[in-house]
Amino acid sequence: MNWAALLGNPIGHTLSPLIHREAFKQAGMEGAYIPIQVKEGYLEEVVTGLCFMENLWGFNITIPFKEAAVNLMDISGKEVDFIGAVNTVKRGESKLVGFNTDWSGFLQALNEAWGERLEGRKVLILGGGGAARAVIYALHTKGVGKIILALRSQFKEKNLKRSLSWASIQAIPFKKKAIEETLGEINLLVNATPIGLKGETMPFSLEGLGKKAFVMDLVYNPPLTPMLREAKERGLSFCNGLTMLLYQALNSFEIWTGHQVEAEPIKKILLNWGKRG
Ligand SMILES: NC(=O)c1ccc[n+]([C@@H]2O[C@H](COP(=O)([O-])OP(=O)(O)OC[C@H]3O[C@@H](n4cnc5c(N)ncnc54)[C@H](OP(=O)(O)O)[C@@H]3O)[C@@H](O)[C@H]2O)c1
Repeated sequence: MNWAALLGNPIGHTLSPLIHREAFKQAGMEGAYIPIQVKEGYLEEVVTGLCFMENLWGFNITIPFKEAAVNLMDISGKEVDFIGAVNTVKRGESKLVGFNTDWSGFLQALNEAWGERLEGRKVLILGGGGAARAVIYALHTKGVGKIILALRSQFKEKNLKRSLSWASIQAIPFKKKAIEETLGEINLLVNATPIGLKGETMPFSLEGLGKKAFVMDLVYNPPLTPMLREAKERGLSFCNGLTMLLYQALNSFEIWTGHQVEAEPIKKILLNWGKRG
């Protein structure tokens, strides 16, 4: 039996094994997907060991190793150069090939939930970590008009502007006044911070968003973060990060196995998971 893995720390609450189990079923394949909690500082040792496992297709990489994994790859997709993070690795005969499927998963999920053309649109992204960079790359491929990043650290701003010199971005402070002043001009708001994971509220109100603006939270647990609850109460269209999680996983599955599986049945299972409790 062949298998794939997830390397991260912590990995306790991941939904990825559930998605891949259903993908194996749908593809009529035998396979396993094993989460491996990697001790911080030991990614390279674990990856080196995995290289010798002949029945391993490959592995996903999650927090906090996505950036560090870039330097461990023999070859990488061009998106990895732009984003600076790897979330999917395919084990070849004598080499590791790195990919990033967060950006394509984001686009598929956004397209399904919103469906509007992105060309020329104005987008505000909260946060500037690995997920934000994948979102910026995704939006860049679709020719968005303006990308504004709300960042809490100026140090991050300088680093990001240097590493994202291919994208045209404007940075504003992660502060109530600066964000609220920006809301009126944007078509899409994306939360790429962990705010909301533990029920935290945003330090700003969505009042200034236009009625047609779309709100996307990359957080999916809880399914309705305080930011999304406010969007709902204000009658705005919105989605959480569950479908992005699904599509990035299915894109990894295809890279490893060559099988494209249908998203819809797995989405139903995930949505039921989202309604629990
Ligand atoms: N749905 C999906 O498929 C999917 C995929 C990837 C990620 N995600 C989610 O997206 C979120 C971000 O992931 P990531 O990989 O980008 O994490 P990351 O690399 O750690 O980046 C997080 C970003 O959020 C900022 N931030 C954190 N707490 C903040 C706060 N209280 N106020 C303002 N900014 C804050 C950080 O700022 P500093 O740099 O100043 O610390 C950083 O810019 C996570 O919740 C993750 O679960 C979802």
